[in-house]
Amino acid sequence: MTTHIFDDHADLSFRVARLIAEQIKTKPDSVICFASGESPLLAYNLLVTLLKSEKIETSKFTLIGLDEWIDITPENPGSCAYFLHSNLIQPLNLSVDQYRLFNALTEDLSQECETMDKFILKKGSLDMIIVGIGMNGHIGFNEPGVPQNLYSHVIDLDETTRTVGQKYFEGKTQLSKGITLGLQYVREAKTAILMASGERKAPIIRETLEGEITTTVPATMMRELENGHVMIDRNAASLLKPQE
Ligand code: F6R
Repeated sequence: MTTHIFDDHADLSFRVARLIAEQIKTKPDSVICFASGESPLLAYNLLVTLLKSEKIETSKFTLIGLDEWIDITPENPGSCAYFLHSNLIQPLNLSVDQYRLFNALTEDLSQECETMDKFILKKGSLDMIIVGIGMNGHIGFNEPGVPQNLYSHVIDLDETTRTVGQKYFEGKTQLSKGITLGLQYVREAKTAILMASGERKAPIIRETLEGEITTTVPATMMRELENGHVMIDRNAASLLKPQE
């Protein structure tokens, strides 16, 4: 794993956008998994601009949505589906066979996990995965304590995730379960990028990079990945030990 520290959120976002654009340029049929949330939003907006201005072919890559809140409709602006549609799928005019998002409204969620796993397996594996980090160290909805060898699965959300998750919704919203790609996908991805910015992420970034590697802080698994990149801004890095 390598750690990259950028001056600010804009710098970090530009660098991540550049990396994703290069991935699509060099391998137009790349399979890329995208998280939702505040951390990657600017990177995605910059990515759309880069892909358009540099006329990079976007009709062959596949977008996978990392996760979704169970029982939240895709029309809800707080859903991961809404976020990915507004920030990537619509602006890039991706065709329906170019993306797959979890259907979190289906009655048979284990079937839904199987369908996602089969879809990815048919494509080979993930070329790249872009993730954020929760205040409790989660990646996707891989909450503290989750086994690291899972592919798609359904999980009870941690209290922190239920509380912090309210920021995406207009009114108080019942959040209890999530459906997510498991950490095994992060492990197997050819490139895994974890993004974090801002001072509020500094304590969990310190725990992730300097604490014990443990399933209690799922993001610590990044340290075991050869192709793992933790890309953060100075504020998120502010509690790290000074580099020698
Ligand atoms: C969202 C997701 C979550 C977020 C994490 C950080 O798809 O998978 O794990 O990446 O909770 O959220 P932000 O970026 O909003 O701070």
